[in-house]
Amino acid sequence: MSTVDIEIKNLHAEVEGKAILKGVNLKINKGEVHALMGPNGSGKSTLSNVIMGNPSYEVTQGEIWFKGQNILELDPTERARLGVFLAFQYPVAIPGVSAAKFLKSAVEAVAPEGNKPSAGAFLKELRENIAYLEMDDSFINRFLNDGFSGGEKKRMEILQMLMLKPTFAVMDETDSGLDIDALRIVSKGVNKLVGPNLAVLLITHYERILQYIKPDHLHVLIDGRNVLSGGPELVKKLEEKGYDWIREEFGHEVLVS
Ligand SMILES: Nc1ncnc2c1ncn2[C@@H]1O[C@H](COP(=O)(O)OP(=O)(O)O)[C@@H](O)[C@H]1O
Ligand SMILES: [Mg+2]
Repeated sequence: MSTVDIEIKNLHAEVEGKAILKGVNLKINKGEVHALMGPNGSGKSTLSNVIMGNPSYEVTQGEIWFKGQNILELDPTERARLGVFLAFQYPVAIPGVSAAKFLKSAVEAVAPEGNKPSAGAFLKELRENIAYLEMDDSFINRFLNDGFSGGEKKRMEILQMLMLKPTFAVMDETDSGLDIDALRIVSKGVNKLVGPNLAVLLITHYERILQYIKPDHLHVLIDGRNVLSGGPELVKKLEEKGYDWIREEFGHEVLVS
């Protein structure tokens, strides 16, 4: 059996009639962490949204295989049930819905039929994860993300991830805007799940988080195509030289090393 867990094949997508993804190809093996970097506007969040099934993004070509299915044929809830999770770059606030209530609905939505956790079991696990993420208990009674600081919103995404226990997690710039303590805690949360049962696509602009969450591979997305792949050593080069050299050196040729 192949060890490939996720395979994105020649993915093209449009937003409001504008082509954004123009041929993304990616294979992630079981248990691997892949970092995805690229300039602003290159399509990283579009890729995340397409993976999760956001209906604002129209897939015009390509496939995304996960657990033997082309998940593009599934609706977002079915994808979540299969184990797909997205930590949003810009988490939305839901005034009127407490964080605890939101998380309970999310956990129930992905639970296998007839296997919803009891209220007690849910609360116990929630408390444990809150403590693990060094968050204050009062957090869960506040309205979801309403008035949360940037760092609190990102911790909320990780708390949700710990509760849902995905097998394919996409983290869209979860590290942006975090101070060192928050970054350490967010990384601790992700690393709790990293292992043979989780594949991660970690979108970031910074080397910093990759010191906490070690990527097996790194990809660079430019103008809707992943043009270059490499090992962790590529991060240093990107930090030093930016992205222009890639455009100059490789154009749009797809390179995989
Ligand atoms: N919901 C949307 N509506 C209109 N344009 C969008 C939307 N989402 C993304 N885009 C456009 O798609 C391009 C890629 O954006 P995005 O995927 O957010 O890039 P990145 O995350 O790499 O910075 C940008 O030109 C952006 O304006
Ligand atoms: Mg983005």
